[in-house]
Amino acid sequence: MTQRPDGDDPDILLCPNGPMILRGHHVIRTEEGDEVETERPFNAVCRCGGTARPPWCDGTHKVLARGPARRR
Ligand code: FES
Repeated sequence: MTQRPDGDDPDILLCPNGPMILRGHHVIRTEEGDEVETERPFNAVCRCGGTARPPWCDGTHKVLARGPARRR
């Protein structure tokens, strides 16, 4: 990641194979047209489409990256 001249980190970070991290206040418009405001200093937005609580990342991307479950 390139450091900005003002020393601040970017306010949007894209995690490889994972969520988009938003820093600070943002308003997100969901696919259904609802607007959701970020409430915490850092918020993880799902980019994989697998979350059970959109638009937020719930960690499902980690399971999807492992592939289908194996049978014993
Ligand atoms: S990016 Fe984490 S659940 Fe989709």
